[in-house]
Amino acid sequence: MTSEVTDGEPSQAQQQAMRSTTRMMSMITGYWVTQILRTVAELGVPDHLAERPLTAGELAERAGSDPEATFRLLRACAALELVEPDDEARFTGTPLLDTLRTGVPHSLRDIALVHGSPGHWLPWGHFPQAVRAGVPQTGAALGMDIWDHYAANPVEGERFFSSMTELTAGLSEEVARLIDTGDVSVAVDVGGANGSLLHALMRADDTLRGVVFDLPAVEETAVAEAEKAGLLGRTTVVGGSFFDSVPRGDLLLLKAVLHNWDDDSCVKILSKCREALNPGGRIVVVEMPLGPVGQPGFAPLLDLDMLAVLPGRERELTAYDALFAAAGLRRTKVTPTRSPQSLIEAVAGP
Ligand SMILES: C[S@@+](CC[C@H](N)C(=O)[O-])C[C@H]1O[C@@H](n2cnc3c(N)ncnc32)[C@H](O)[C@@H]1O
Repeated sequence: MTSEVTDGEPSQAQQQAMRSTTRMMSMITGYWVTQILRTVAELGVPDHLAERPLTAGELAERAGSDPEATFRLLRACAALELVEPDDEARFTGTPLLDTLRTGVPHSLRDIALVHGSPGHWLPWGHFPQAVRAGVPQTGAALGMDIWDHYAANPVEGERFFSSMTELTAGLSEEVARLIDTGDVSVAVDVGGANGSLLHALMRADDTLRGVVFDLPAVEETAVAEAEKAGLLGRTTVVGGSFFDSVPRGDLLLLKAVLHNWDDDSCVKILSKCREALNPGGRIVVVEMPLGPVGQPGFAPLLDLDMLAVLPGRERELTAYDALFAAAGLRRTKVTPTRSPQSLIEAVAGP
């Protein structure tokens, strides 16, 4: 048996208890880090420090922030390994901080902004009630659902849609390789936001025409994104609701859409998609299927974001099969990607 104290050194049990306390403290205060990262992104710290190392005063001047508070922010960022101080009181951004720079490949900047902003942040403040009642807390926290909140707060809304583009960016080239569009004339990105997944398919196949279909509030940015991608000539942007109808196509993409909704709503969306399929067409759902309980990964946590903010959930593959069956569809294929997301293909029929 290990004795509790040896020559003043903590015992193994004490060391374990200290590690657990440290780990738990960092979990408990995790929301501080969310707001530190949001603030760093809002002040453009990663972009300013990418130009050259700066003192807190120089950074505050560029960011329009308080010099003393900026120093305190940078000191905490140094503890988080986001910046490194030098002997002349200047700070340099680390590669970790660079992931929050604007416009770099796989930037996470808008994601950092979105998760610290009211649309997600305030409903999470009601999380115990989400678990007690089993319903999202956007109504209680924002007075409306998340899509109305983004329509009413267009700056935050645009950040959200561009955060989805950031999330898609890491995946889109691989998806474009994995989805064969040889027999597809028109692909529809259903709930496509800025249409970034569709753009990747269109870049890989220069005969493919695309439709971005999303809520009317998203139309303007979807048009601007298609123009920016040089694809406006082959892209149509349609505003509407997938609970009413979906534009026709040979390939319907549904990325990160079904996980926003409860089962009944998913069956309605999938039924509208089935009605919109041209003969021989197919649906590709891009989602993060849940593995067995206890399997590490992001999906079980994302599932709770869906619980707090949306009437949705992450699902196991068998649950997607049940939704397909209820909507008159049949799963034909599952293709894993390098990310936790998989491509789940379905066609009309039993
Ligand atoms: C989580 S985002 C996914 C966006 C995009 N597919 C992606 O992965 O980048 C869900 C999308 O569904 C759209 N949406 C929500 N309700 C909708 C509705 N009733 N009809 C059409 N689109 C809707 C939202 O505006 C949003 O763009």
